[in-house]
Amino acid sequence: MVTSAHISVLAEPYIEGLCADKDGRYVDATFGRGGHAQLLLNKLSAQGEVLGLDRDPEAVAVGQALAAQDSRFHMFYTDFAGLEDAVRAQGWDNVSGIGFDLGVSSPQLDHAERGFSFMKDGPLDMRMDNASGESLAYKLERVSESELVSIIREYGGERFAGRIARAILEALHQGKMNTTKDLENVCFHATPKKMRHGGAHPATRTFQALRIWVNDEMGQIDAAVKSAMQLLKPGGRLAIISFHSGEDRRIRDLIEKEVRGCTCPPQFPICVCGIKPTMRWVQKKPVRASEEEIALNPRSRSAMLRIAEKVGEPC
Ligand SMILES: C[S@@+](CC[C@H](N)C(=O)[O-])C[C@H]1O[C@@H](n2cnc3c(N)ncnc32)[C@H](O)[C@@H]1O
Repeated sequence: MVTSAHISVLAEPYIEGLCADKDGRYVDATFGRGGHAQLLLNKLSAQGEVLGLDRDPEAVAVGQALAAQDSRFHMFYTDFAGLEDAVRAQGWDNVSGIGFDLGVSSPQLDHAERGFSFMKDGPLDMRMDNASGESLAYKLERVSESELVSIIREYGGERFAGRIARAILEALHQGKMNTTKDLENVCFHATPKKMRHGGAHPATRTFQALRIWVNDEMGQIDAAVKSAMQLLKPGGRLAIISFHSGEDRRIRDLIEKEVRGCTCPPQFPICVCGIKPTMRWVQKKPVRASEEEIALNPRSRSAMLRIAEKVGEPC
């Protein structure tokens, strides 16, 4: 589905996996431009409801317009750390499903002033919530070289993380690191000549890593899964789309811990910890986009969808 230049990825398996009760209450924790939320509303009965969340004020404004048109939809401005409070503020004790479509929306990438893209010149910002928090420029002024190397290596999988981090900080200290084009240029020239062409642009992985860092996206995943465990009713569904293998691994491990329950060492003949599973996998192996979807929306190439269900009677 296309809404305001954002094409929702894996729309059918995501909505099918998330929505097992047409009269249920759902959270779309990453409203974006509302493509998934609208598909969910289309699937629900007149009794069903959706609470949309986003940390981006522009997305929240779009959600508020939808809420004015459809009384089954409500919009809340928060990041995942405020998910539980948002659901309680709505007067709900639990929900039938919570969906996350992580990462940035196309409007965030396309608007140069948000500072997410190396294709356009913009400020070194990269905050999803551009009304609060610390911009990339602010954080770069305060980061050490070794921290920056780890960020670029860990969140970007960038093999030239050391050279790139050093070059970024050098340019910063010379007053030559002011815009996304400056950053792109530094990444390009810090990459060995023979590796500059032929694959993804040399700045791709560094931009991804810095965005994950600025928005504490790994910490947000921990908060998201923890809140979902608290809020889902038995039989309630958790559906998560991620675009980065590190994020997907983190999601898998957090859910797998709940699926396994027991924490006794494998050599113990019987369970002595007494910890029971709280989730079961509906879709353990990630669902990937079809060739057709990738042709229509290249961004879907890296999308991975996992679905799990709270253990108990179906709602
Ligand atoms: C990929 S887009 C979602 C697109 C949406 N599913 C659609 O169909 O239009 C991700 C959205 O989630 C928001 N987002 C990402 N991480 C978030 C977080 N930790 N808390 C709240 N919103 C977040 C972003 O601001 C962005 O608007």
